[in-house]
Amino acid sequence: MNTALKILLAGGGVVAVAASLNFFSEEEASEFHNGIYEPPEEKTYIADIISSAVAMSTRSHKLTAPAPYRRDVHAKAHGCVKATFSVPELNQPNLRYGVFKEPREYQAWIRYSSGDTMPQPDSVRDARGMAIKLMNIDSPTLLKDKQNAGSQDFVMINNDVFFIPTVKEYKTFMQTQAQGDKFGYFFDNFNWNIFKWHYRQLYLGASTLKAAPDSLLTERYYSLSAYRLGPEQFMKYSAKACDSNTSIKVDDDKPNFLRTELSENLSSNAACFDFMVQLQNPSKNMPVEDTTVRWKESDSPFVKVARITIPKQQFDTPEQNAFCENLSFTPWHGTQDLEPVGGINRLRKAVYDGVSRFRHGKNNVEKQEPQGWCLSLDGKPCPTNNEGVVP
Ligand code: HEM
Repeated sequence: MNTALKILLAGGGVVAVAASLNFFSEEEASEFHNGIYEPPEEKTYIADIISSAVAMSTRSHKLTAPAPYRRDVHAKAHGCVKATFSVPELNQPNLRYGVFKEPREYQAWIRYSSGDTMPQPDSVRDARGMAIKLMNIDSPTLLKDKQNAGSQDFVMINNDVFFIPTVKEYKTFMQTQAQGDKFGYFFDNFNWNIFKWHYRQLYLGASTLKAAPDSLLTERYYSLSAYRLGPEQFMKYSAKACDSNTSIKVDDDKPNFLRTELSENLSSNAACFDFMVQLQNPSKNMPVEDTTVRWKESDSPFVKVARITIPKQQFDTPEQNAFCENLSFTPWHGTQDLEPVGGINRLRKAVYDGVSRFRHGKNNVEKQEPQGWCLSLDGKPCPTNNEGVVP
């Protein structure tokens, strides 16, 4: 067992004791109500967080050079796959906003990833990411310099709650991370005063690091943070694997077995996901400003709004893998009707863009949005065959 895991488990033990002594409760109410509240000092933390993120990307690059600069988190891709995102005519009028407004099928890219700042063997416990990019949406997007980007991104991991509540806490967390110290934040820089430790965050952080699944195609992924659904509602979203998706037996001692499984699986099978939204019930404990509070399905169930289909395909080629690394996903690629809300999302607006610009600049690659399934980011329309499918 590696040292980091031992420390985490020791911390987990302390958390279990703390929980039994009722130091914290998973059900605890948030200090926030269900609306939007932007603390005046929040913006002052964001520049520091971007510097820490850039420092992390630089540190990882030093350890993996001559590989290109990568994302500071979700550094390891398991593959980028082509998909379609089909929105049916929705019965409930209060769901018909943004890309869910009317029936339409979008071409999409999906990047599967592991959350760590460094590429590591898939057997190491980690969060797994599923980032979806719909292309050619017909409304302007929220990023001022990319209003015509045409992208609606949905960014998720395979856990239903985030482990840090606010931007202020995130700043402290990132300072220790950028120094290469994975656990300093949770133990208040290893302060002997255990009342200063972040038990709840440690517990939630530890539960985010999950054993590798048999397949990335049989997981459920969640947004964790909240979004608008039209002018008067907030929601979270989730992609749930169809029951018909299966996994293929591969050698899970191999470091990249999740990619191998995805590749072998999709070379003979198609897969699908139900894309669902969970509306906030304002009379329940469903805050948008505290991402550590799980929105309970018993307070508001998820409702299906689209079907994601991943056709049979060969994705694991050097060209497609390079294309995949040069994509940029952010919750802020999207329309006003689906605006990201809450402090953690406000923070993500500047950080995703900052880190993406940094790595594209270092790698000398132009940062552009894809317009279709062809492996080009030159903004020209992609050639298609008679069925409209990119060969
Ligand atoms: C709240 C829930 C969050 C979720 C579900 C989430 C999920 C993800 C996923 C799946 C990716 C990989 C996207 C890809 O495949 O390119 C990603 C990338 C990234 N995340 Fe998050 N994340 C969250 C919060 C945060 C926070 C709080 C920060 C820091 C402020 C952050 C910073 C980043 C950065 C910098 C990238 C790489 C951006 C790029 O270079 O393109 N994330 N995130």
